Amino acid sequence: MTAQFRIQRTTSPKPARAANETPAFGTVFTDHMCLIDFHEGKGWHDARIVPYGGMPADPASTVLHYGQAIFDGLKGFRGQDGVIRLFRPRAHAERLNRSAERLCIPALDVDTVVETFVRLVDIDRDWVPSAPGTAIYLRPTVIANENYLGVRPAHAYTYFLILSPVGAYYAEGTAPVAILVEDELVRAAPGGLGAAKTPANYAASLLAAERAKKKGYTQVLWLDAVHRKYLEEVGTMNIMVKIAGEVITPPLSDSILAGVTRDSVLTLLKDWGVKTSERPVSIDDVAEAAAKGTLEEMWGTGTAAVVSPVGRLGYKGKDITINGGKTGPLTQKLYDSITAIQYGKAPDPHGWTMPVMPAR
Ligand code: COI
Repeated sequence: MTAQFRIQRTTSPKPARAANETPAFGTVFTDHMCLIDFHEGKGWHDARIVPYGGMPADPASTVLHYGQAIFDGLKGFRGQDGVIRLFRPRAHAERLNRSAERLCIPALDVDTVVETFVRLVDIDRDWVPSAPGTAIYLRPTVIANENYLGVRPAHAYTYFLILSPVGAYYAEGTAPVAILVEDELVRAAPGGLGAAKTPANYAASLLAAERAKKKGYTQVLWLDAVHRKYLEEVGTMNIMVKIAGEVITPPLSDSILAGVTRDSVLTLLKDWGVKTSERPVSIDDVAEAAAKGTLEEMWGTGTAAVVSPVGRLGYKGKDITINGGKTGPLTQKLYDSITAIQYGKAPDPHGWTMPVMPAR
């Protein structure tokens, strides 16, 4: 145990909607949340679990003005054996700290962050759904919380963790999605915030996504900010493409988020001996491969949707159909293999899962 946790249980629990319901992503929240405060000179302190509820925000709070905030997202899965397993919690806590560094937010103790995940999921374990494809989504967040209008890193912060029972992220479920290549707006530029999980990146993505939806696409494929040519991300996910037997994904950079699912997929592909390259791939390479018939599969990787096939790609007013608009065999194998590990149905050779045992 790394931190003293104060625990205040709710006196009015909501009926745990968990069981076998599959609520739309991110619409239902559990009974409790976890908070930790930071004040300059005192450091991170007062880790506590309290009833879920609103947090009073002073209108002068820095986060409301300058967006100094970070978050992460991970999942816990209830297996058929009843055991709840968190997927790569440490990797997510470490990424939260990398985002913190970019946003001038004081680092958190990684063990303490992992402990918040375990303790809160344990307390709200009845909320963890068990139907296939469902999970408990954990949303750790840090916001600057000083009442001050000058522009500089804040002197006070709040870490909070909330939980949400979730089903599939996209309305399409795990079916292939239609993606529009975005060649005007950019998500992130070199030297910017793209590698950090910070609200600004998501705010920057909204207009393109809304425009794409109006044109009948689910999300956009982001191109690099300099050449408007190289693939960067797809929607809120990392992108992978299989051309002539080789899986290619853009190398990590300061404009691409280091996805935990991206890393898991690359690890599995290497385990299986699939030719895999982390190298720049341009939209022209993709269009050319489609024309030659060597564009085999394309998918996004992310915590929320896990592995999401791209069935149709809109580019320069035309649609490229990938694998006949159906989920490709490698995409399906990756989805099945990762979810089998997550639900405890398959061995976990890389030690990615962490069981949440009931506290005595
Ligand atoms: C993901 O897990 O793929 C995301 O980043 C989506 C999340 C922001 C809802």
